Amino acid sequence: MVPFIDLKGQHESIRAELEDAVLRVLESGRYALGPEVEQFERLFAAFCHAKHAVAVNSGTSALHLALLAAGVGPGDEVITVPFTFVATVASIMYTGAKPVLVDVEPETLTIDPALLDRAISPRTKAIIPVHLYGHPADMDPILDIARSRSIAVIEDAAQAHGAEYHGRRAGGMGDLACFSFYPTKNLGSCGEGGIVVTNDEGLARKVAMMRDWGQTEKNLHALPGFNYRMTAFQGAVLGVKLKHVDRWTEARRRIARRYNELLPSDGLELPVQRPGCRHVHHLYVVRTLRRDALNEVLSQAGVHTAVHYPRPVHLQPYYANLGYGRGSLPVSEEAAATVLSLPLYPEMPSEHVAEVARHIVDHLA
Ligand SMILES: Cc1ncc(COP(=O)(O)O)c(C=O)c1O
Repeated sequence: MVPFIDLKGQHESIRAELEDAVLRVLESGRYALGPEVEQFERLFAAFCHAKHAVAVNSGTSALHLALLAAGVGPGDEVITVPFTFVATVASIMYTGAKPVLVDVEPETLTIDPALLDRAISPRTKAIIPVHLYGHPADMDPILDIARSRSIAVIEDAAQAHGAEYHGRRAGGMGDLACFSFYPTKNLGSCGEGGIVVTNDEGLARKVAMMRDWGQTEKNLHALPGFNYRMTAFQGAVLGVKLKHVDRWTEARRRIARRYNELLPSDGLELPVQRPGCRHVHHLYVVRTLRRDALNEVLSQAGVHTAVHYPRPVHLQPYYANLGYGRGSLPVSEEAAATVLSLPLYPEMPSEHVAEVARHIVDHLA
């Protein structure tokens, strides 16, 4: 059996550090926000080469608050992609704004900057590029277009901890950036978590207030308020795990390189790393027109795989009324029909990588 991921194994390897952190919180009497979370915020901002980070209870909450801090509300439009986890689009709808969907580039499956001009209207308030699978979106043209029209850029970096684009880190490029610490992410909590990163002190302050009931001071609620606080347990766990994330990322990149060497490029499209980019391989995703047959073969062989994502957001029943029918976003639709995520996690044994590749080579022969 080849698992898709092994979180228990990862936690076993740093068990003593995690136990110390969890016990420290238990004994501290401070369980929501507090010093463990503040310390993690400082470390994570530095990790992103950014000035401020505000921790919240999920990546979805991070997106919601980033949008509100950027001033997005009813009547506004926010441009993003349909080929993403549904939370990217859902968070726009939480604010009352309208998601405007543009297609992704065929090579990286991130937002296609060439399609932005046509999608922008006088109501456009923000653009959310998604650094899908851990590869950064093509940020320079996106930032150029956005800055020339005073449109905010909010990075959805939920899958891209430590990814780089021409020397800049995911999280430090847009006006705001949002990360998820869902347990399976490259940096995962032992529960739920997220964070908003920004270089703008005013935006950081707004997000910090909104996550804790919009209080500008105790019992003074001057902004819209939510209970989106990060718990101290997650802050402490994430502080421990952040120390290991660069090593884990290098392990992910090594495994991806090994897959690239072992897998055939005939009949299979392998993931691409653009020049000047650092792909952090949250997922290792191949593409083939015979995806379902290959998936079945791997499943029979005991190899656990996944599909991220089998149906783009515009073809999901709840989002049908956004008005994009089948055929309107063709690159996303084709990606949804052809992508397959292979097992990849930092501790994955090299024999497992070889075994997965062997099954694929045999099947495609
Ligand atoms: C691209 C993307 N955006 C947003 C999210 C939402 O994060 P969370 O699950 O922490 O709310 C996720 C993760 O699940 C994601 O992959």
